[in-house]
Amino acid sequence: MSKDSLSITDNRTGKTYEVVIDNGTIKALDLRQIKVGDGDFGLMTYDPAFTNTASCKSRITFIDGDRGVLNYRGYPIEQLAEQSNYLETAYLILLGELPSRAQYEGFAHSITHHTLVHENIKELMGGFRYDAHPMGMLMSTVAALSTFYPEAKHIHDARNRKEQIFRLIAKIPTLAAFAYRHSVGMPYAYPDNDLSYCGNFLQMMFKMGGRYKVNPVLERALEVLFILHADHEQNCSTSAMRGVGSSEVDPYSSIAAAIAALYGPLHGGANEQVLHMLHDIGSKDKIPSFIKGVKTSGGEVRLMGFGHRVYKNYDPRAKIIKRMADQVFEVTGRNPLLDIALELERIALEDEYFVKRKLYPNVDFYSGLIYQAMGFPLDMFPVLFAIPRTSGWLAQWDEMLEDKEQKIARPRQVYLGVQRRDYVPLVARS
Ligand code: CMC
Repeated sequence: MSKDSLSITDNRTGKTYEVVIDNGTIKALDLRQIKVGDGDFGLMTYDPAFTNTASCKSRITFIDGDRGVLNYRGYPIEQLAEQSNYLETAYLILLGELPSRAQYEGFAHSITHHTLVHENIKELMGGFRYDAHPMGMLMSTVAALSTFYPEAKHIHDARNRKEQIFRLIAKIPTLAAFAYRHSVGMPYAYPDNDLSYCGNFLQMMFKMGGRYKVNPVLERALEVLFILHADHEQNCSTSAMRGVGSSEVDPYSSIAAAIAALYGPLHGGANEQVLHMLHDIGSKDKIPSFIKGVKTSGGEVRLMGFGHRVYKNYDPRAKIIKRMADQVFEVTGRNPLLDIALELERIALEDEYFVKRKLYPNVDFYSGLIYQAMGFPLDMFPVLFAIPRTSGWLAQWDEMLEDKEQKIARPRQVYLGVQRRDYVPLVARS
């Protein structure tokens, strides 16, 4: 008779235990009863980098990495990219359902009316060096927002949480654009609430005086890119958001931590690295020697924009971006690095090294080419990831706070260091 449980025999003691299987998981704490004697702490699992550990139950994003499936709240990413816009997708991710027209308009109104930042934030930004990386500026100014909204620390008040969520989604593009304009020495462009979320961001970035005319093709491309980046379940930055948020700190501080995690070259910093890599390769004839270098480097040199912890198939987001590239290049002109990227992909997908390890292009492989063609400098690429991911981070944070099974995140360790020894005064040490 089948039973949703696991029988475990401890060969050290000969004892057998029965552990419940729920949703394809066993509770790590159920292993604690497995002991060799009274003084034994009990069995733990060892899972560096959490490669096989579920840290939460979630109803937001579903990924099937083997089949290349990504759904937000059950809706396939392809359908959302085709038919939705970023704010509607953010609403869906945060609240679980697609909004009615009235709900959408109310949500969009709440976001567009929080886009301005306190004038002191401008002064704060003015303190950064002229060449400060905009991701560092974004991270710091988001953290600074917690000092402007001290009431945000009341994280158990759902209404208060909602207000901070609106504020954050609204202000992130403003901070991002200010960071860019600081780095190029241009006066900040204030938000224009008559424009769409993406249209407004484009004008805050690129307005040069007079009225900025938003190109509808580029505005739509940005909407799609933002939809694709809105959430991705328990990745490194989302785990940082949940982990830091579990200490019950305010959401601005948690988002700053999530931005820090996203900044790394193995995560959201990869799109910037892809462009550096394509630049360094320089021409198609150099690709074979580059690939050879990757394969012989023992994992040190990576083909950036390739590989994923969860996807062992083509990243569905990369497919959509690749298709969209042509529409963007019709407006902006073709990015000359595209030919190198296409050839690199072709060669890698035929190469045994990449095939055997199931390394396919991920979201970052083609997104940077589009961003560059649209006029965004390379160091803005991770920032362009952080803006839309803010809604995902906040949805995950909100879900965590409503989850009665969650507590402050606190992993265990396997201690392999020196056992107790006595202190030796400095004079007595040789
Ligand atoms: N180029 C060359 N080899 C690679 C790559 C790559 N991009 N990615 C993985 N490998 C190799 C790796 O060396 C290892 O080989 P071996 O088995 O011989 O030791 C094997 O493939 C498995 O790699 P791993 O590092 O154990 O895999 P992981 O799941 O820990 O890492 C990853 C996932 C995304 C960090 C990694 O694939 C990588 O570094 N990719 C390049 C950076 C990148 O594009 N990051 C963006 C990820 S998508 C956007 C996001 O959500 O952040």
